[in-house]
Amino acid sequence: MSQYDNLTFEVQDSIGVLTINRPKVLNALNQETMQELKDLVERIAVDKTVGVVIVTGSGEKSFVAGADISQMQSMSALEGRQWGRFSQGVFNAIENLPQPVIAAVNGYALGGGCELAMCCDMRIASEKAKFGQPEVLLGVVPGFAGTQRLPRLIGKGRAKELLFTGNQIDAAEAYRIGLVNKVVPAEQLMDVAKEWAKVILSRGPVAVQLCKAAVNEGLDMDFESGQAYESEVFGLCFATADQSEGMAAFVEKRKAMFVGK
Ligand code: CAA
Repeated sequence: MSQYDNLTFEVQDSIGVLTINRPKVLNALNQETMQELKDLVERIAVDKTVGVVIVTGSGEKSFVAGADISQMQSMSALEGRQWGRFSQGVFNAIENLPQPVIAAVNGYALGGGCELAMCCDMRIASEKAKFGQPEVLLGVVPGFAGTQRLPRLIGKGRAKELLFTGNQIDAAEAYRIGLVNKVVPAEQLMDVAKEWAKVILSRGPVAVQLCKAAVNEGLDMDFESGQAYESEVFGLCFATADQSEGMAAFVEKRKAMFVGK
């Protein structure tokens, strides 16, 4: 899967590391990169060798510094709408990947970069990371679902503060307001992300995927429908070899050996 100009993807021990690779422009997302991302995510979704995905940015300085401003500068209204809609779809596809997705935020996560981090299941940030939705400084609103995911993640008031001011916040503040799960020294970022991936990989794979589906689907439903969905997938677990193995291992006081079926 190394045929991309603007991305790299490497799989080792069931962990796929997806790197946005345009370091000269701080990994800004242009249309070519977004098209490649769409293609890669579709492949990952059906790739049984990938159990967990880590998304990061190339270089020391930036995760993703937003959508590519020089490319957007001359867009018409219709082109802007199409660009936003297409990119929202790509980020939805990341959010709905069957595999868990961890953002390893190594630097600037601004605009489309913050939106990319937010469509991942979890976010680990380097102490050097900076977050923000600076679109209002450019005279636009976020276009890759920032107005939707940010308030869902950190609440309406804090989201509006970041959206209306466009101010950047550092990793410690992002942690304080719940935008990231953990902050680590820059040099430990990928190791910690891989440790988290390994822990998740050691759990029942079907159960992890169904947990993800229940959270994602349930949050778009009323509470009662979400509970009904949960009981369906809970019941489904009892048809899996992983449930038999997991509960037998507990009773027999040994480590479970899951097969993902
Ligand atoms: N698009 C295109 N190019 C970008 C870019 C972007 N989003 N961000 C950085 N670059 C380019 C710069 O133009 C510069 O290129 P040159 O070397 O050719 O001049 C290079 O990356 C390095 O950037 P700087 O020299 O600006 O680096 P810095 O350390 O001085 O500043 C920064 C870093 C604060 C991140 C600054 O680059 C910046 O403010 N970038 C733009 C951030 C932004 O506004 N993002 C939101 C974009 S809009 C969006 O994302 C809409 C949406 O919701 C989809």
